[in-house]
Amino acid sequence: MSIDRTPVEDLSDREAAKELLRLAGLIAHHDRLYYARSAPEVDDAAYDALRLRNQAIEARFPHLKRADSPSDRVGAPIAEGFAKVRHARPMLSLGNAFDAEDVTEFVARVRRFLGLDEEEAVAIIAEPKIDGLSLSLRYENGRLVQAATRGDGAEGEDITANARTLRDIPDQIADAPSLLEVRGEVYMSHAAFARLNERRTAADLPLYVNPRNAASGSLRQLDARITAERELGFFAYSLGEASAPIAETHSGLLTQLQAWGLPVNPLSKICGSVDELLAAYADLQQRRGNLDYDIDGIVYKVDRLDWQERLGQVSRAPRWAIAHKFPAEQAETRLERIDIQVGRTGALTPVARLAPVFVGGVTVTNATLHNEDEIARKDIREGDTVVIQRAGDVIPQVVRVVLEKRPEGSTPYAFPHTCPVCKSEAVRPDGEAIRRCTGGLICSAQAVERLKHFVSRNAFDIEGMGTKRIEELWADHIVRSPADIFRLKDRRADLVQRERWGEQSADNLLAAIDERRTWPLERFIFALGIRQIGQATAKLLARAYGTLDALIAAVTAAQDQDSDAYADLINIDQMGKDVAADLIAFFAEPHNCEVVADLSQFLTLEAPETVQESAISGKTVVFTGTLERMTRAEAKARAESLGAKVAGSVSKKTDYVVVGADAGSKAKKAADLGLATLSEDEWLELIGREGASA
Ligand code: IVH
Repeated sequence: MSIDRTPVEDLSDREAAKELLRLAGLIAHHDRLYYARSAPEVDDAAYDALRLRNQAIEARFPHLKRADSPSDRVGAPIAEGFAKVRHARPMLSLGNAFDAEDVTEFVARVRRFLGLDEEEAVAIIAEPKIDGLSLSLRYENGRLVQAATRGDGAEGEDITANARTLRDIPDQIADAPSLLEVRGEVYMSHAAFARLNERRTAADLPLYVNPRNAASGSLRQLDARITAERELGFFAYSLGEASAPIAETHSGLLTQLQAWGLPVNPLSKICGSVDELLAAYADLQQRRGNLDYDIDGIVYKVDRLDWQERLGQVSRAPRWAIAHKFPAEQAETRLERIDIQVGRTGALTPVARLAPVFVGGVTVTNATLHNEDEIARKDIREGDTVVIQRAGDVIPQVVRVVLEKRPEGSTPYAFPHTCPVCKSEAVRPDGEAIRRCTGGLICSAQAVERLKHFVSRNAFDIEGMGTKRIEELWADHIVRSPADIFRLKDRRADLVQRERWGEQSADNLLAAIDERRTWPLERFIFALGIRQIGQATAKLLARAYGTLDALIAAVTAAQDQDSDAYADLINIDQMGKDVAADLIAFFAEPHNCEVVADLSQFLTLEAPETVQESAISGKTVVFTGTLERMTRAEAKARAESLGAKVAGSVSKKTDYVVVGADAGSKAKKAADLGLATLSEDEWLELIGREGASA
């Protein structure tokens, strides 16, 4: 690794900024290898040298310190995500049976495929289908070496460090074959889920909607210490690759897995006929409400493993197994009233307030009614008894009205034509499903929703500014506009005295706000909550204009549709006239410009990293073999900063193959495809001086 670069004292501002960018990328890369994959590429001394150089540059150029500076992230893995893992054997999904007929057909198909005589019995295991997320554990010589999520079935994420924190997952297995991959489901028990959400309520953090989402969020934490606190469970239910046969039947396999210390679900049953399968299904459905974890159905699996082998798979599902899902749980309850919520853009959304009812493992008190037409179509009225349904992750729905129970004298619901909050007119343009409040700036509901959007995760991501706090601070006239958030530090005394706040909580919030005073331009644009400007469009705008001033100047000039500014604006990738119109309308409104100006005085907005134009812009490059003058990571970072795409394998789409020492199959493949190969020196020459300083 070349750290013997320009001495820090000799760097210009520009060079220093570039070097900080390069170091942030490199350190993040090494952190990932070290923490997520436990496979470092450099020794500690080389790693420390990178960090020291980063610190030295930051000390001399404090104004250039990056928001994602490695110095602020000691030891914590990077926020970029997890390394990808290719599964030795694909992780399959399951076909579905919806009724008894489908189950009969499944068994018949199995018999036909195997060509069994009528007298020959087929043993089939019925297992609970755990509603969690699947995980593949790889043991080499009895030691857990890798844990991967399912991903797309072929490639998942390496979450080894996290999986090691689960008590249910043994680190070592005595007497295991030299290679053993165990697959199963990670889940969160109802008790653990309740405890987690209680802690989150206390900390004013958003709640997880169900145990499965919580399990998934907990397993995919970049910091394994967080996973460790989350009390996740695991049930093993199948095998991936294995160096030796383990059993002759699936039930034998489960027994062996259990003997090795892996938890196996106790409710599996061996069945000998369709009737027994259906009885197992009915039985499990009965028990479902009493289990401390979610199950969403039952899985039937042919017991004999040699038969499983013969049956094989169709597309990505095995022929030897099928899932029989439980129907979405339904319940009857009384619809007390219909409330209208007003969104950030003024959309009026009807919500059904229900007498509390326990369904699908949770107590439901609200259900979505979608929109005006939906209420009319189902003729849903206040006071009605309704059937509600809750399936998986989705918000509970009102399925239908129980007409027999409709109270006498009820009248059809009249959807309001005025905003329930600010009383302005609410209009519904022709052809649209949604009615909107026209109150704009005077509507406090819209203002509060805009603030919630402003502090939300993908916008300013301010921890400690949950819904309740925003509503309180708004009501008390403390935060009325986004800029007020950045003025809060002048009101520390007020905050400390608020009910349920105190010093600690106020200081935490103020610190979280301070961290956001320097923030990417694209997230600022997104945070403004302009109609149709989502994250992707915000990013395009930030790239295209580079600074807030340039953006405002261009959008203001674009009010004239004959201007070049207008032509440029609608020409931005995927933008188009419709979106441009909303953007122009936003900045044509003087109040919006005031809000933006007021806000921007508190902020340093970072321009997106620009990609340089170079000889290799847009080209696809593959590095292979050992590079002598730079590390692989460095070569990749340089190539990318010059606009090239770095690929892991050679194909017809490859433009350059850079061949280092001891290159193997990739160099050969490049030669076979007749691609240009370059030595390391030729490559450095091609990227020239640009590359040398990148
Ligand atoms: S067997 C080839 N058994 O359901 C067989 N899957 O819809 C693959 N699941 O991705 C899976 N409980 O995440 C199997 N007892 C069980 C299961 C189970 C839950 C999940 C698993 C899989 C999904 C398929």
